[in-house]
Amino acid sequence: MATDVITLITKDHRTVESLFERLKKQQGDSKATVAELHALLIAHARAEEDRVYPGIDAHHSVEEHKQAEILLDALVRSEPGTPEFRKTLQELEQSVKHHVEEEETKILPMLAKSVGDKKLKELGKAFAERRGEELKALSVPQQAGPSKSELYEQAQKADIPGRSRMGKEELAEALRHAKS
Ligand SMILES: [Fe+2]
Repeated sequence: MATDVITLITKDHRTVESLFERLKKQQGDSKATVAELHALLIAHARAEEDRVYPGIDAHHSVEEHKQAEILLDALVRSEPGTPEFRKTLQELEQSVKHHVEEEETKILPMLAKSVGDKKLKELGKAFAERRGEELKALSVPQQAGPSKSELYEQAQKADIPGRSRMGKEELAEALRHAKS
């Protein structure tokens, strides 16, 4: 059962907002959060540009995506905690916020009005596929992360309850929360 493109795009926007919150509050590993934000925003923008915008008049948004990409690159290069990082983060958040508002108040409602449910689901499928390809291409190789035993050791140090019953992903998740 395919999900409509409006739900998918809106969901990404909420995820991006929560990543900005983490970075502003300096929760967890900021470098890892920046990498996540970078991958998600790029994949989201490419999928919108290639699969959703053609056919609707959204050139302005493409320009905004470009601006956001320049700021994202600057954010990746700057050191968390520095004034430069905070300034770039603030500029990027403003830029993304503007994009999200415009899309959710104008572009997506316009799209919902102009095409039917079936088409919205087709676009959703196309969006998700393109987004997935892009995320795969951008993601860091799996081997780069810590192994399960390394994570378990960290969990022991952090005294995370229930660690012995956790799988690799759960351990990583619990550690992210513990650090924040
Ligand atoms: Fe968007």
